Amino acid sequence: MAASQAHLPEPATEALTHSRQLTEVIRAEIDRQGGQVSFRDFMQLALYAPGLGYYLAGSRKLGAGGDFVTAPEISPLFSQCLARAIAPALHSLAEANILEVGAGSGVMAAQILRQLADLGQLPAHYYILELSGDLRERQAETIRQQVPECLSRLVWLDALPEGLSAVVLGNEVLDAMPVHLVSKQNGIWHELYVAWQGDRFVWQGGETSDARLSERMLGIEEKFGESFAEGYTTEVNLLAEDWLAGLSGSLQQGLVLLIDYGFPRHEYYHPQRGSGTLMCHYRHHAHGDPFYYPGLQDITAHVDFTAMAEAAYRSGFSIEGYTNQGNFLIGSGLTELFQQQPVEELQPQMVMANQIKKLTLPHEMGELFKVLGLSKQLDVSLPGFMLRDLRNSL
Ligand SMILES: C[S@@+](CC[C@H](N)C(=O)[O-])C[C@H]1O[C@@H](n2cnc3c(N)ncnc32)[C@H](O)[C@@H]1O
Repeated sequence: MAASQAHLPEPATEALTHSRQLTEVIRAEIDRQGGQVSFRDFMQLALYAPGLGYYLAGSRKLGAGGDFVTAPEISPLFSQCLARAIAPALHSLAEANILEVGAGSGVMAAQILRQLADLGQLPAHYYILELSGDLRERQAETIRQQVPECLSRLVWLDALPEGLSAVVLGNEVLDAMPVHLVSKQNGIWHELYVAWQGDRFVWQGGETSDARLSERMLGIEEKFGESFAEGYTTEVNLLAEDWLAGLSGSLQQGLVLLIDYGFPRHEYYHPQRGSGTLMCHYRHHAHGDPFYYPGLQDITAHVDFTAMAEAAYRSGFSIEGYTNQGNFLIGSGLTELFQQQPVEELQPQMVMANQIKKLTLPHEMGELFKVLGLSKQLDVSLPGFMLRDLRNSL
């Protein structure tokens, strides 16, 4: 967690003002809580403070002109594969709905709807659970431009609805949920808090604010049969676990596909991964300083998929499958989709071949990104998980 990020591009004056305003909001919260906030609360405000947090102010985060690029922005083949994968589940649901959580630019929604229209399987509703007003507008504009005939099926939600029958999709959503930071200090699991000193945010160690944090880390050490080194620092995403329980409560019947970068627990909390996976993204530069201009950069942590599967199972989901993105896309028909493209022109074929490489090769997104499939009250077969079922690694 470097204190200085001199190599990063300097923000414009307006952006600096925005960041200063958010810094004041976080400082006020630190004062209100008696001098420090958990890192989870810091990350919550940095990303989601109303009107100022990274995801709730402005809409140009994703894509080439933003801070990072996600799979649906890389290639339409990603969403086309997802559409093919979920079509049988949609067919089996009492009411065929899709709920996309955190829909970014709206490009995945547009491409899924187009592919489902080709398959003659449009959903009754395409719900989008979106926290950001700016992104909602951008999503509506994308749908209007790319699939205007589907606009009437779109419904934006503020919260998970009750009694839902749907296929739920979340691409790179879990990694954007605020995490607690824990650190081994003097042989004991502590939590890392954020305070303000002089003119900057600083770290402070303290007792864990939630008993689950030290229980989790002690359980992991026990599994490894060793005590982690002094200073070992990592993240625990309790919010994502609670969110899954909430999703289960709201879903009467459905399939859930969660796609994100991460590992099973034994890789995530490997004794040698001593500084965790916290990562910040600012204009396509990745670095490790979450205090750098709050509000102007994304802050993320990789996903502990074992924790997600355990939380899902505890809250009543069946685990349909777990594999990496490369296997899931190939199993869901990526090669057939590529072969269906018109062959007259070489250039678009080359572009698409490159996109496939990015999505599937192990050193690109193919292996780090995983897909977790969950179901509730639904019998469904998902070829995406059949090529290589990695559930036994969880
Ligand atoms: C990295 S972006 C991914 C956007 C898009 N899915 C894509 O792949 O391009 C993460 C998104 O997750 C959303 N998000 C995080 N936590 C959420 C929650 N609890 N409910 C709904 N959206 C959430 C954020 O607001 C943000 O839009």
